[in-house]
Amino acid sequence: MKLAVTNIGLLAGVDSDLLACRRGEQMRTLNLLEHAYLIATDGVITDFGLEADMPALEPDTTVVDARGGAVLPCWCDSHTHIVYAHSREQEFVDKINGLSYAEIAKRGGGILNSADRLHEMSEDDLLEQSLTRAREIIAKGTGAVEIKSGYGLNTADELKMLRVARRIGELTRLRVVTTFLGAHAVAREYAGRQQDYVDLVCAEMLPAVADENLADFVDVFCDEGFFTPAQTAQILNAAARYGLQGKIHGQELADSGGVQVAVECGCRSVDHLESMTDRDISLLLNADTMPTALPGTSFFLNMPFAPARKMIEAGLPVAIASDYNPGSTPSGDMKFVVSLACIKMRLQPSEAINAATINGAYAMGVSDSYGSIAIGKVANFFITRPLPGIDFIPYAYTTPIIERTFLAGVEA
Ligand code: NIG
Ligand code: FE
Repeated sequence: MKLAVTNIGLLAGVDSDLLACRRGEQMRTLNLLEHAYLIATDGVITDFGLEADMPALEPDTTVVDARGGAVLPCWCDSHTHIVYAHSREQEFVDKINGLSYAEIAKRGGGILNSADRLHEMSEDDLLEQSLTRAREIIAKGTGAVEIKSGYGLNTADELKMLRVARRIGELTRLRVVTTFLGAHAVAREYAGRQQDYVDLVCAEMLPAVADENLADFVDVFCDEGFFTPAQTAQILNAAARYGLQGKIHGQELADSGGVQVAVECGCRSVDHLESMTDRDISLLLNADTMPTALPGTSFFLNMPFAPARKMIEAGLPVAIASDYNPGSTPSGDMKFVVSLACIKMRLQPSEAINAATINGAYAMGVSDSYGSIAIGKVANFFITRPLPGIDFIPYAYTTPIIERTFLAGVEA
């Protein structure tokens, strides 16, 4: 099956060096072709170039006219919690009234509130609610997404969440990477017995998850009021015995050692980082761990933003992701996340787009197949209305410029 996209005003994210990720100064490079075409065969990019050089198309080729719009690689959203039961707008109002995210969690709201509601919901209903969100992000240009568990907090319901995440990958053309986050909060039944809960995660949940091959990564909420670095290491070491790499929530609420444990345990990514320090930047310089900022969360919770500018100046790669979840940021709009990275973290548009594509793909271990326009990569791309230039994307921060999304060479 051949697909040809013609009349592309701007083809962005064109990649010939096939870097696994872009770090430091490399993040400014976003290669562009003006007046271009792109050809996909059986869902894979097989050719692209200047329209003037376009080869004669085979007769059975499906031709899509981009009408002068831009074509970009789909967003690679490497951190979400889109499998959840019901929204939590009451907590949104509590926050407006002055309560902090940590205070709401302490009162038994937050993650435990979502867990209560998820226990009561059937797998099929959970799938239906979550699929709506998956379709929403596809329409907004996301083509690969990481989905975490973490609202089950018991073995049966963690498995239920991960099965739903896997089914989203089967029912849509999204590339879904799944992450087991049993250590998202201590389940209500284990209140005051945090270590017993950690032992349950290691001895019962992890083996069950691995047995059904439901997770690609394992995550821990390593932060003040949640899990300690020692408990995080215990869980990640147990995960390593099943061949599962870590991807942790660290240093959101406090300078609590999340980066250090992520580096020591060889994590794929360490995410949040609102409270990271210069010491953490030095630690990451000697690691393969992708620092991932979640600017939507800082925006929604009115918290400081991760020091992404500083990280890039120090030579680090940075990814950005949505963190789409019912509590701390109920949005998976990656274009808005790119705008926030520019406006609030002072990333250049090219840096923010790389952070949301190739570096996001790296943060979920799929950058060999996703995250840029390259021969041999999966044909995941979106088409925009005609743009004056690439900088217009984050600048027009609420304009719906994304018109069509193609996943594995098929319009979604
Ligand atoms: O990434 N920080 C921990 N977990 C999520 C929030 C989950 C929730 O509030 O439901 C986050 O922000
Ligand atoms: Fe999160």
